[in-house]
Amino acid sequence: MVKRQLAISSDPAKLISPIPMQLDPVRMPDHLAIIMDGNGRWAKKRGLPRVMGHKAGVEALKTTLRLASNWGIGALTVYAFSTENWSRPGEEVNFLMSLFENVLQRELNLLKLEQVKISFIGDLSPLPIRLKGLIKEATEQTSANKGIHFNVCTNYGGRRELVLAAQKLAKRCINGELEPDLIDENAFAAELLTANDVDPDLVIRTSGERRISNFLLWQLAYAEIHITETLWPDFNENALIQALIDYQSRRRRFGGLEAESSKHYEI
Ligand code: IPE
Ligand code: IPE
Ligand code: MG
Repeated sequence: MVKRQLAISSDPAKLISPIPMQLDPVRMPDHLAIIMDGNGRWAKKRGLPRVMGHKAGVEALKTTLRLASNWGIGALTVYAFSTENWSRPGEEVNFLMSLFENVLQRELNLLKLEQVKISFIGDLSPLPIRLKGLIKEATEQTSANKGIHFNVCTNYGGRRELVLAAQKLAKRCINGELEPDLIDENAFAAELLTANDVDPDLVIRTSGERRISNFLLWQLAYAEIHITETLWPDFNENALIQALIDYQSRRRRFGGLEAESSKHYEI
């Protein structure tokens, strides 16, 4: 397995923060997924337009990415825009698309410097042309980076991803490349947009909502779930530490039993 390279920076004192004492460095998640929710409510609480919440949310994302990278988390996958978010008012959708463009353009150099490998997951075809160009550039220019794998789910929907995987497998069967009976979980997972990452170990949802909202339906099968009332723009180092402490307190069983509780019983 390739050893990940931790973030480097021209200003290490500012950018590198060690793993906090409360956390066990050996039990950090390999893959962290986040449903970044509550931007609109954050803005409303301050009497601001909803879109100001999205702008503030970018700062929370930058902090989270940097900390995850510094603490050796291998992959961070965030939900930025769902297939259902097109149903919001046009003004908000347009603002979000412009925000993605501006942030990507502004942050690309730092992503490169910090060895982040960025990918965009979802149906990118309906995105504005300028954004598509920036996505292509950022993906290509960071593809060889050895640091954290940063997946930005953009026009992403779990159901659509599963339907597309089924279509691809069906086409391979029709072409005679694959026997239907040989389609197993590995073959299916290989057609998903996250094929290069392990499944998330932990999923965080901010703003107190207790639902998945069409996010990573296959990949979250055994993820631990952390729900916090914190609104996404307020999500900071302390909130991330609390989520990771919660994760590290869990006993993951994957349907089995813990070693100490598996005794032999006579039937
Ligand atoms: C999440 O915040 C960001 C996106 C879905 C793009 P929301 O915009 O959903 O904020 P709330 O849930 O309305 O507060
Ligand atoms: C989920 O949040 C999508 C993103 C965070 C991008 P939503 O705010 O769209 O989800 P619902 O409507 O509360 O389920
Ligand atoms: Mg929301």
